[in-house]
Amino acid sequence: MLGVWWLLAAGAVLWVPGVPGLSNGLARTPPMGWLHWERFMCETDCEKNPSNCISEQLFMQMADLMAAEGWLKAGYKYLCIDDCWLATKRDANNRLKADPTRFPGGIKKLADYVHARGLLLGIYQDVGTKTCAGYPGSQGFYELDAQTFADWGIDLLKFDGCNYGNLTMLEDGYRRMSIALNRTGRNIVYSCEWPFYARRLTKVNYTEVAEYCNSWRNFDDIEDSWTSLKTVIDFTSALQDQLVPAAGPGGWNDPDMLVIGNFGLSWNQEVTQMALWSIMAAPLLMSNDLRDIHPRSRELLQNQEVIAVNQDPLGVQGYRVLKVDSFELWEKPLAGGSLAVSVTNRQEIGGARQFHLSRGMLWKGLACGDKCCLTQLLPTRYEYGCFNETFILQLPVNPSGTVLLRVE
Ligand code: GLA
Repeated sequence: MLGVWWLLAAGAVLWVPGVPGLSNGLARTPPMGWLHWERFMCETDCEKNPSNCISEQLFMQMADLMAAEGWLKAGYKYLCIDDCWLATKRDANNRLKADPTRFPGGIKKLADYVHARGLLLGIYQDVGTKTCAGYPGSQGFYELDAQTFADWGIDLLKFDGCNYGNLTMLEDGYRRMSIALNRTGRNIVYSCEWPFYARRLTKVNYTEVAEYCNSWRNFDDIEDSWTSLKTVIDFTSALQDQLVPAAGPGGWNDPDMLVIGNFGLSWNQEVTQMALWSIMAAPLLMSNDLRDIHPRSRELLQNQEVIAVNQDPLGVQGYRVLKVDSFELWEKPLAGGSLAVSVTNRQEIGGARQFHLSRGMLWKGLACGDKCCLTQLLPTRYEYGCFNETFILQLPVNPSGTVLLRVE
């Protein structure tokens, strides 16, 4: 196998021009926005829990905040509904309909509300007979549902994979929905979970997935904990030989939502998620409560220089270069021969430890020659200044924290 190690040893470039993503002109950089699932899940009891139930009110509030509090300006433009928005049955013409008590205005009106604030609206459906939470799925209705979404003014579809039947039905369903969305003529970002479900049954053909989807989940649902975060990060680096070449403008690996601003992560762990999701060129879909978020978490999520790493136009997914002494070194080639570098301290005992970063560890394509200027972006901004080719930097990294740098 022609692995990362071989390529690095040869001084070659890992991201040998990869698979071009779905060529619908969308998601040329990783999609950014908000998605309700991790934080709000399937709360449908609006009597008992009026302010946190899945209802049009929740999305209107989030839309107002996204527009008013700098989120949209920072790039977070897709406001996305996840599971549990549907009525329990289709209407008399087999069209999907939203739960009438929780979404009394219907989805089209909600889309108008969201669009009026300069945002885009995402929605959720499932390739199978039922969604994961048991609402009517799209199987047998792909074309009709795609048209319904287009008629409503939907801008992104998260297409889940529960209750699919067999592998052929799963894969055909994902292909058909992609084609159906395309045929509507509306710009709808297509976010898949195809590889996540398919990998249990077969070896995933990422070239094909990238031809049909704008992003795709590979792994378990994220939760609001450091343990969960670590499993996602470790899964991604273990599979990077397959995942990294598949990503590029138009198609992205999706390690699932940003959980920054919730309950389970420490400050250092929040920094680690933001840094690594940027390095991984992941969709930045927050799942948190924008009505109640710590200013420090907001600042982290809105950090323009970090977002620029994620949204870099070269569109290369970063990868782990080194794992040594409980440190992890990752890098992401950027446009113009620049580089983003992250160092995570995976030792969870003690205080900050020093990592010695040298030029020789890094990407051979780095264009700075004998004038490499290093800026630390996280956890705090710091200019290290400019060095010659042979720089060695001593970086203090906190336990479960990450230092993110930009080299140019
Ligand atoms: C699956 C998905 C989650 C979420 C739920 C909703 O578990 O992976 O992201 O959409 O279904 O039921």
